[in-house]
Amino acid sequence: MEIYINNVYDKINNMKKGLFITFEGADGCGKTTQIKLLDEYLKNKGYSTLLTREPGAVGLGVKLREILLNYDGEVSPQAESFLFLADRAQHIDCIIRPAIKEGKVILCDRHTDSTVAYQGYGRELDLDRINYLNNIATGGLKPDLTIVFDIDIETSMQRVGSQKDRMESAGIEFFNRVRNGYLEIAKKEPGRVKVINSFDTIENIHKKVIELVENL
Ligand code: TYD
Repeated sequence: MEIYINNVYDKINNMKKGLFITFEGADGCGKTTQIKLLDEYLKNKGYSTLLTREPGAVGLGVKLREILLNYDGEVSPQAESFLFLADRAQHIDCIIRPAIKEGKVILCDRHTDSTVAYQGYGRELDLDRINYLNNIATGGLKPDLTIVFDIDIETSMQRVGSQKDRMESAGIEFFNRVRNGYLEIAKKEPGRVKVINSFDTIENIHKKVIELVENL
């Protein structure tokens, strides 16, 4: 059964026309600045791009994002992961897959690795289960490249500032686990996941991003 599913996933990935690049890292790592710079760079080169994000690209996702970041009652870690996964399923089906078929370069601010790092490592949910559920939400579609922006948590928290949303309020230990989670993901999948040290100037980081993307 597993082999059959993997074959189907391979077929899905082989049918792809566009490119799918995801940007990952702890809050305040600077990825949002970098994704915009890359978008501009690619557009100037004549590529058709789609700049999008999780959670909350459009429609239903925006509602889910509102709950995920601002709901002030209790949210269990399992429920939290299902809400992120619901947002992902909607995003993949309605936005990402159609854009890939059109041959676009998709630049996505956070995706499956956020759930592994935040809910898996951060909230300490079972990693195999998170990976399994991620696969269901994406239908097996995988990014061609994932860039993790690595930064020490003190700097990242300083950048976030005092106005923290629900996720950003999770505390320093949580964020250390998230950071470590991203580094573990990169170790496990060195072909897809590349780490950039984010304690550098915006220009230098941008150059490294371009290098990675041009290597694709
Ligand atoms: P956002 O404001 O988009 O943060 P950032 O600008 O740092 O990307 O908020 C998204 C928050 O949701 C962020 O704290 C990471 C968290 N998150 C998860 O915990 N799991 C997930 O699967 C995703 C996509 C995001």
